[in-house]
Amino acid sequence: MRILILLLCFKAFDQALSKAWLPPPQNIHFDSWQLTWTNATKDTNVSYTVEYKSSNIDWEVVPACDHITVNSCNVSFMKASAEHGCAMLRVQAERHGLTSIPVEACSIHGDTCIPEPHLTTRPGSMTIHLSRNHSLAVDYADHAKHMVYFGREGQPLEEYKAASSSVTINDLEEGQRYCVKVEYIVYYEPKGLASCVQCELIPVADSKHTAKIIAGVVAILVLVVVVPITAYILIFHSKKIKQCLGPPYEMPEVLEQFHEQYITLMPSSPSDEPCNVITSITSTAQ
Ligand SMILES: *[C@@H]1O[C@H](CO)[C@@H](O)[C@H](O)[C@H]1NC(C)=O
Ligand SMILES: *[C@@H]1O[C@H](CO)[C@@H](O)[C@H](O)[C@H]1NC(C)=O
Ligand SMILES: *[C@@H]1O[C@H](CO)[C@@H](O)[C@H](O)[C@H]1NC(C)=O
Ligand SMILES: *[C@@H]1O[C@H](CO)[C@@H](O)[C@H](O)[C@H]1NC(C)=O
Repeated sequence: MRILILLLCFKAFDQALSKAWLPPPQNIHFDSWQLTWTNATKDTNVSYTVEYKSSNIDWEVVPACDHITVNSCNVSFMKASAEHGCAMLRVQAERHGLTSIPVEACSIHGDTCIPEPHLTTRPGSMTIHLSRNHSLAVDYADHAKHMVYFGREGQPLEEYKAASSSVTINDLEEGQRYCVKVEYIVYYEPKGLASCVQCELIPVADSKHTAKIIAGVVAILVLVVVVPITAYILIFHSKKIKQCLGPPYEMPEVLEQFHEQYITLMPSSPSDEPCNVITSITSTAQ
């Protein structure tokens, strides 16, 4: 009895190890209804099985790609059999009865059920540009969203946010690479393939560098513009400058004449004072 249990345990342990030992296929890419991947191992006699899953159905084997020994599979049947052609795909390797873990496929190009995010970065932040206007949104309105997976390069991506449109992630470490993948979800259920993982470097804000550039530009401006203008003014317009700086004003002619007249009209003695003129004004008023 004990021996039997021990044997069973050993078999389970052995199987668990074997699963881990058979490396899964890699780089499983979907493009134009063709699924391709790279070999799990260099060993021969490895076969691959492709499975698909459309909404509410469990994983099913793609009949044309059951235990195949080539590295690609034509999955154009999905166009007709799955709703909108929206299905997830995964590939499993098998060798002498041992199976690898299944690995889900991703797509580099966007399609009806596949988002195509574009990443932009700034010091400390990354923006994942997503279109609000996609085919699933037409059918499911706000129930169709993008599920954004996010993480540092080399670490597993984690669910970050279910978003209708673009997402900006702040407070990221500068000089560090971060990765993103996005899939459509409808009522929080994945719909179709995810975009393949994209990674970007968060640039470093080099404030000293910026300051140097600004200082350089200012110095060039001074040399090219301000110095020649100043020199020109000093050399060719020194007279004007002197005039400007000199005694303020020459009296205009009119004023000068007036000045002379005024001087001639000035009473020569107190008896000639302008009392006479005032009398004449009074008589007019009467
Ligand atoms: C991958 O495996 C297939 C079939 O098992 C084989 O024909 C092909 O040469 C292998 N390619 C590489 C790069 O190992
Ligand atoms: C591959 O499998 C076939 C049949 O399953 C077998 O005849 C052959 O010896 C195997 N080759 C290797 C290298 O294991
Ligand atoms: C995939 O299969 C479909 C239908 O069987 C065929 O029309 C199409 O040309 C195939 N695609 C490739 C790349 O072989
Ligand atoms: C996106 O919007 C444009 C017009 O604004 C429309 O022509 C196009 O079909 C829409 N795309 C999708 C996938 O709904």
